[in-house]
Amino acid sequence: MKNVSVIGAGTMGNGIAHLFAQNGFKVTLIDISLHQLNKALETISKNCDRQVAKNILTENQKRSLLANIAIESDLDEGVRHAELVVEAATENTELKLNIFKEIDEAAPKHAILASNTSSISITKIAKATHRDNQVIGMHFMNPVPVMKLVEVINGYSTSKEVTNTIVELSKQLGKVPCVVNDYPGFIANRILMPMINEAIYSLFEGVAGVEEIDTVMKLGMAHPMGPLQLADFIGLDVCLSILNVLHDGFGNAKYAPCPLLVNMVTAGKLGCKSGEGFYAYAAGSKDLIVSERFK
Ligand SMILES: NC(=O)c1ccc[n+]([C@@H]2O[C@H](COP(=O)([O-])OP(=O)(O)OC[C@H]3O[C@@H](n4cnc5c(N)ncnc54)[C@H](O)[C@@H]3O)[C@@H](O)[C@H]2O)c1
Repeated sequence: MKNVSVIGAGTMGNGIAHLFAQNGFKVTLIDISLHQLNKALETISKNCDRQVAKNILTENQKRSLLANIAIESDLDEGVRHAELVVEAATENTELKLNIFKEIDEAAPKHAILASNTSSISITKIAKATHRDNQVIGMHFMNPVPVMKLVEVINGYSTSKEVTNTIVELSKQLGKVPCVVNDYPGFIANRILMPMINEAIYSLFEGVAGVEEIDTVMKLGMAHPMGPLQLADFIGLDVCLSILNVLHDGFGNAKYAPCPLLVNMVTAGKLGCKSGEGFYAYAAGSKDLIVSERFK
């Protein structure tokens, strides 16, 4: 396998393109937005500089990494020579089904089609194609070049051969693959999101404050970051949408999102990306300051 196409040049897409290019693959990075494509190239270059400063890459390796990435705004053209497509476009079911329908037509028949979705059913995505045995989940974590895990998700019809190929490929990229089956939230979010939701419920019910909840989990459970800070980092809208997937998918009230989370998303308090969530984020500052709302 040599040619990889990555769809979506946002947070995850630029990291995935970086990782494959660093490992010698020829990457075509595809996005409908030229602005996003150029921004992704800038981010990748800056992240390479950081790796050079840490002696992870040499200047020469940085040059060949960047030379391995081409950008493309036409989806059909971008996947024409792909042996593997990794889709990392916006988390929206209709959008992903349309993308998979289109790439099924345009990509070579032998190509494996993977999705980096956090929560949408791989089986559903696979049914939008005529090669459901060649569709799989390849769930990278943010930031992609740093985080070791790839959650490999078998759709209902994914073939063993395709799973093995993706497992071996993940190892070749220096990652640790874990194979799981396609049920709501897979494993990562099925376990993580109820914990985050419970932390929000604890705040909502006045059991403890933001700092106390995060400190208990950091110092008591050795988590590198508390659940409320992590929720801000992931994006509260993303947390809400994954909880809704779990709630709808299992029909179990234990996954119902906390009303405080729903309120915060409605109010546009989405965490780091909007400047405020459980904490307030000042531009250029890394200080962790609890939002006025929770003091
Ligand atoms: N952000 C995370 O921490 C994280 C972690 C794991 C998985 N994911 C998953 O990765 C995927 C991408 O998330 P993200 O955070 O990078 O999103 P993002 O919003 O940063 O980027 C999405 C990109 O997709 C592009 N896009 C939208 N429609 C497109 C189309 N039709 N064709 C090509 N490009 C299109 C957008 O222009 C945008 O650049 C989602 O499925 C998400 O659930 C995200």
